[in-house]
Amino acid sequence: MAGNLLLSPMLKWVGGKRQLLSDIVPMIDDKCSTYVEPFIGGGAVLFNMQPKKAIINDYNTELINVYKTVRDNLDDLLDELKIHEEKNSSDYYYEVRALDREAKFKKMSDVEKAARIIYLNKTCYNGLYRVNSAGQFNSPYGRYKNPNIVNEAVLRAISKYFNDNEVQMLNGDYKEALKNLDKSSFVYLDPPYMPISASSSFTGYTEGGFGYNRQVELKEECDKLSKQGIRFVQSNSDCEEIRELYKDYIIKTVKAKRSINSVAKKRGEINEVLIYNE
Ligand SMILES: C[S@@+](CC[C@H](N)C(=O)[O-])C[C@H]1O[C@@H](n2cnc3c(N)ncnc32)[C@H](O)[C@@H]1O
Repeated sequence: MAGNLLLSPMLKWVGGKRQLLSDIVPMIDDKCSTYVEPFIGGGAVLFNMQPKKAIINDYNTELINVYKTVRDNLDDLLDELKIHEEKNSSDYYYEVRALDREAKFKKMSDVEKAARIIYLNKTCYNGLYRVNSAGQFNSPYGRYKNPNIVNEAVLRAISKYFNDNEVQMLNGDYKEALKNLDKSSFVYLDPPYMPISASSSFTGYTEGGFGYNRQVELKEECDKLSKQGIRFVQSNSDCEEIRELYKDYIIKTVKAKRSINSVAKKRGEINEVLIYNE
């Protein structure tokens, strides 16, 4: 781990990689010219690596707006979060949650939208960012005693990191972030995982989901990277489809504690894979 120890994810994100950092980080070339993370989510790996030059991307517009707001408008964001902190209650949560179902949502400022996502993320059940098929936030209230809604030290550290370094932020399909990379870039891919069973099929980060066909397409993108001599590491679930798809690559098995499964007895340690090309 380099640099500022305060740098860590400001949002709890499904599939967060905090507990796998000791497996993933040593595999990333810290001498690379550009660090590329096309599925940034909560950014556990980025914030641990703290590269000077990076390209980050996520399909989730609300998430990228949070990062841009932390970079460009931190003080206004902190003020807005303090208001949420004062008003926090179950009723207030559902009012704020419902905003994306109302016409006035489009008129909210980027700061208001970013504060809304941080507030909901800190107070919702399990910290799970979940949207329905219409793209509306639908996690229930979490009833925490002391949710850390205004995490000022971490937000300031993240803002400083973004401002002191060259971190390009994209908001689109992951393939956009893989275009025109220079050879000495390094790519860490953490896509929505291939579901290992019907009950664990959480692919609801975005309205579109990420099914098997998209896993095949992602493998083809990895082939393109390899052909260009660009190194990558990818996280995914340990299942037959993934092992078969990546049979020409190196696959390392790692153990992860996962607790997002709604079937309580299925929580616990499961295998995941790290796929790489060198
Ligand atoms: C497994 S999560 C990443 C977790 C992250 N590494 C962390 O530590 O929190 C996958 C991310 O991919 C994003 N995503 C889903 N489909 C995408 C797509 N087609 N292109 C880019 N990002 C996508 C989701 O919004 C989600 O944030």
